[in-house]
Amino acid sequence: MSQDKGNFQWWQRGVVYQIYPRSFKDTTANGVGDLQGIIEKLDYLNDGSPDSLAVDAIWISPFYPSPMVDFGYDVSDYCDVDPLFGDLATFDRLVAEAHRRNMKVIIDWVPNHTSDQHPWFVESRRSRENPKREWYIWRDPKPDGSPPNNWGSFFGGPAWTLDTETGQYYLHQFVPEQPDLNWRNPEVRDAMFETLRYWLDRGVDGFRMDVIGLIIKDEQLRDNPPDPDALPDLPKNDLFHRLLQVYNMDQDEVHEVLKEIRRVLDAYEERVAIGELWGPLPRWIKYYGEDGDELHLPFNFRLMRQPWQAKAMRQSVDELETALPGFAWPNYVLGNHDIPRLVSRFGGQVQARVAAMMLLTLRGTPTLYYGDELGMENGVIPPDKIQDPQGINLGPEWSRDVARTPMQWDDGSYAAFSTVEPWLPVSADYQSQNVASQSADPTSMLNLYRRLLRYRRSSPALQWGRYLPLDVEEDCFVYLREVDGERRLVALNFVDEARHLSIPGEAWGRVVLSTHLDREELVDLSRLQLRPYEGIIVEL
Ligand code: NOJ
Repeated sequence: MSQDKGNFQWWQRGVVYQIYPRSFKDTTANGVGDLQGIIEKLDYLNDGSPDSLAVDAIWISPFYPSPMVDFGYDVSDYCDVDPLFGDLATFDRLVAEAHRRNMKVIIDWVPNHTSDQHPWFVESRRSRENPKREWYIWRDPKPDGSPPNNWGSFFGGPAWTLDTETGQYYLHQFVPEQPDLNWRNPEVRDAMFETLRYWLDRGVDGFRMDVIGLIIKDEQLRDNPPDPDALPDLPKNDLFHRLLQVYNMDQDEVHEVLKEIRRVLDAYEERVAIGELWGPLPRWIKYYGEDGDELHLPFNFRLMRQPWQAKAMRQSVDELETALPGFAWPNYVLGNHDIPRLVSRFGGQVQARVAAMMLLTLRGTPTLYYGDELGMENGVIPPDKIQDPQGINLGPEWSRDVARTPMQWDDGSYAAFSTVEPWLPVSADYQSQNVASQSADPTSMLNLYRRLLRYRRSSPALQWGRYLPLDVEEDCFVYLREVDGERRLVALNFVDEARHLSIPGEAWGRVVLSTHLDREELVDLSRLQLRPYEGIIVEL
């Protein structure tokens, strides 16, 4: 394949930035972020100058009408905007304003379940004979009155709730207010494909498809086997993680549906299909399709689950690179709204700097999570302020609120996120860690991200070059990226001690970026020094 830029799609070359809309910017003084807030901050994301992050796409978590039991992942209307976030006219303006700044807009699509307030489910639960009954998954109780099988809800308790009026259980793999749709029903498929077209016609550039591997279940709804490796300290009511996810996800038939979804997107130009998936590599890889006709990017969460060790990170990347067929494009995620902040997970700010360099220099599309570019840490949420159903049901240590605290814009009240008390407390460090203060500090995390993003954009090798790992030093993850004679060396020191590397076959190179943002110099590659927790990019 020629390495011409024209052969790579925007979603291969570019960087995606995830916005959790509740927490980005509030313009209506209700403590919750909104679409107008995103519009007002688009220049921060990309105003065309090197001073902005200059990301290529935003992914916005759900803004649909919703009772907000799972903060928008319980959708009661797929074709509108919740008044809390704005309206359709504001959404259209957001798309136009993002496009004007050369940013694509990806939205969340939640196909596995609706809200129990969605008119489809309101109908469905009305009677066993209702025409919408088969749009959801209803089953009779077992003879002893217990649920139809042993599946657990991801958020605790059984995955089945009895509807006493009609005497049947309905399936919900998340909270009871999120009933699972029946994707084996062609009427459901057609209705859901229409919702995709609705947003494609409004100009969105792609979808991030929520728990897409869950949409088709075993036809007989068989019991899942117990997981022999389940963590011993799981909360009592966590019935989900006690079982192997054999019959509730990754069923063969899901791939037929994904091909249909892709056909819907492919009727439009240059749209991207991203999916949320967590299964083991051989199962996960199938979501690219046999010849690339399913998802463009099944989200790859493997790196965020690794311990902070060069060896573990490299192994995860190498396994992926080896397993991917030629047509499949890699991608990496280090943070999102469901897991603790990356700074808190990987051990601190210095580690997070190395992680940022890794994410933005590996081969594949990076997704950044809002606030990670400031090094935002886990928020401290008093127990009585916990909002997340996972934290409420499974216990405070499982609350995802820690990664959803308001974006820190400046040192004013509520970090200039809102003029009133926000839905989650602003982190205590907002007076020193915010966009304004970090913009003024040339060595801040924010400026590291800006420099990395700018450098990445200028470098075909980093955007689409080959990835070649080097065996140099156990505590460092070292690789080359190269294309058409452009060669870049990335060397990441994962430990709190200096390391000396000798790069085989190389004499001199120029350090163009260090995670400490304090050196640009010619270096002898037979005696390359990395300071504690330092990552560098070297032009060869
Ligand atoms: C995955 C989403 O990322 C998460 O936030 C949500 O709670 C579940 N899916 C259910 O939709």
